[in-house]
Amino acid sequence: MADQPAKPSGPDLTQGVALSDFAGATLLGHVGDEDVLLVRSGAEIFAIDAYCSHYHGPLAEGLVDGESIRCPWHHACFDLRTGEAARAPAFNALAVWQVERKGDRIFVRQRREQPKPRVKGAVQAPGKIVIVGGGAAGFAAAEMLRRQEFSGSIVMLSHENAPPVDRPNLSKDYLAGSAPEDWLPLRPDSFYAEAAIDLRLRTEVTSIDTRARNVILADGKTIPYDRLLLATGAEPVQLPIPGADQPHVHMLRSLDDCRAIIASADGARHAVVIGASFIGLEVAASLRARNIEAHVVGLEQRPMERVLGPEMGDFVRALHEEHGVIFHLGDTVTAIDGKRASLKSGGVLEADLVVVGAGVRPRLALAEKAGLAIDRGVTVDAYLETSVPGIYAAGDIARWPDPHSGQNIRVEHWVVAERQGQTAARNMLGQRAVFDAVPFFWSQHYDVPINYVGHAENWDEIAVDGDISGRDCMLRYKSGERVLAVASIYRDRESLQAEVVMERAG
Ligand SMILES: Cc1cc2nc3c(=O)[nH]c(=O)nc-3n(C[C@H](O)[C@H](O)[C@H](O)COP(=O)(O)OP(=O)(O)OC[C@H]3O[C@@H](n4cnc5c(N)ncnc54)[C@H](O)[C@@H]3O)c2cc1C
Ligand code: FES
Repeated sequence: MADQPAKPSGPDLTQGVALSDFAGATLLGHVGDEDVLLVRSGAEIFAIDAYCSHYHGPLAEGLVDGESIRCPWHHACFDLRTGEAARAPAFNALAVWQVERKGDRIFVRQRREQPKPRVKGAVQAPGKIVIVGGGAAGFAAAEMLRRQEFSGSIVMLSHENAPPVDRPNLSKDYLAGSAPEDWLPLRPDSFYAEAAIDLRLRTEVTSIDTRARNVILADGKTIPYDRLLLATGAEPVQLPIPGADQPHVHMLRSLDDCRAIIASADGARHAVVIGASFIGLEVAASLRARNIEAHVVGLEQRPMERVLGPEMGDFVRALHEEHGVIFHLGDTVTAIDGKRASLKSGGVLEADLVVVGAGVRPRLALAEKAGLAIDRGVTVDAYLETSVPGIYAAGDIARWPDPHSGQNIRVEHWVVAERQGQTAARNMLGQRAVFDAVPFFWSQHYDVPINYVGHAENWDEIAVDGDISGRDCMLRYKSGERVLAVASIYRDRESLQAEVVMERAG
């Protein structure tokens, strides 16, 4: 999270700026102590908060698209007229400011009253909506339902102990010890009661009666629904390794998992991370920040090669090695005997702490048992509705018709899960919104963020623009002349531009 600069930025907007000084799409200035961004959209000029309400990304470096601005860091999108966080991962609106024009000068002196978000409302208002899942998609759906002024009941069921948290942070700053725990909740605990969202934690749904329209809980209680959203996410793959059931061997999905890793890390000197993909490597980086020796064991020859290709894989490996991570690639752990992890290649690693990051599996049991159509995920249509009318699915479990790749895809990305939750909410209200967002994810390794837009399971060529090791690059994953996806480091504006181009093409 970036801090607002100590000194206010740019010109004092209360004194006015000349139109001739405002040549580009944005101009960063200040009103009192607060940074305010002037944004030109066609003939109009808007003034909004200068920093994103997600992690404080600098909107001056974002992309203006019509009456919206997109954040350079994780591609949230804000409505310039209302300040509304129109697309996740931001949820809180930006303050909007009064713009006055006098002659050829523009003045900003005071905030406008916060406009209401653009509400389409319910086209067919169901009485009761039940959401199974207290993660990214479930939270975003509940929040959007209330934003769209849905006044019926919302019951949100989660078998976690904590209200929805910022899950990506669990392998990054929070695990590294550089983010306080109060950064984690997506909203304060009081939000749920205030928004009349009946959030029930430690509650497991065991089945769905699709005829009677009830969900059935582990304690035998039933909860009726008119519309149901399944957002059960994914669970870490467990490895059938002797010794994997010991208390110092961890998986990472929930806040409880993360707290357990932090407790094991206390006093640990040597850690073994099994899995060299996103979560495994982020965990290794966070453990290095705690000064723990980190060994990463992975079957692949290059970390992240399957998703990002060989060049980025080599860079990521070198980056982690620079920070002291020791790789054991093309290898696997065959047994964990107390604090000794045996490698297939024959070596033995000291392991005060083991974290298994060997991928995840979508939680499909409920959907399967209820007879919903399944195809390596819960099959949904363009409106995220499953094969059973009135039941929707979003997030890591959903396989949807992606207009950009022309394929039915399922991804495990935070922002996609949130945006699907938002779209599913609108559709549960009858708004008929197609889910057509271009997939986006980010991953953070030390001070290097990797942003990825699009979806490429295979490609013919990776066109590299810039210098990967110089941390200034854009990689285009191409099939023939078509760009399926782009990955970038510190090319945020270009990454946003690529997203807009893909959206228009889709
Ligand atoms: C440590 C970590 C770091 C990550 N980092 C990134 C990142 O940097 N970028 C990125 O794009 N993605 C990242 N991801 C992936 C991202 O978090 C997921 O794609 C996203 O959380 C999926 O959202 P979801 O709503 O589908 O599932 P989840 O967020 O997993 O939520 C599922 C919810 O369903 C509940 N549930 C499941 N079954 C039941 C049941 N039967 N009864 C009641 N409740 C149930 C669970 O308890 C949970 O609350 C990360 C994931 C992890 C674990
Ligand atoms: S900081 Fe703006 S989307 Fe994350």
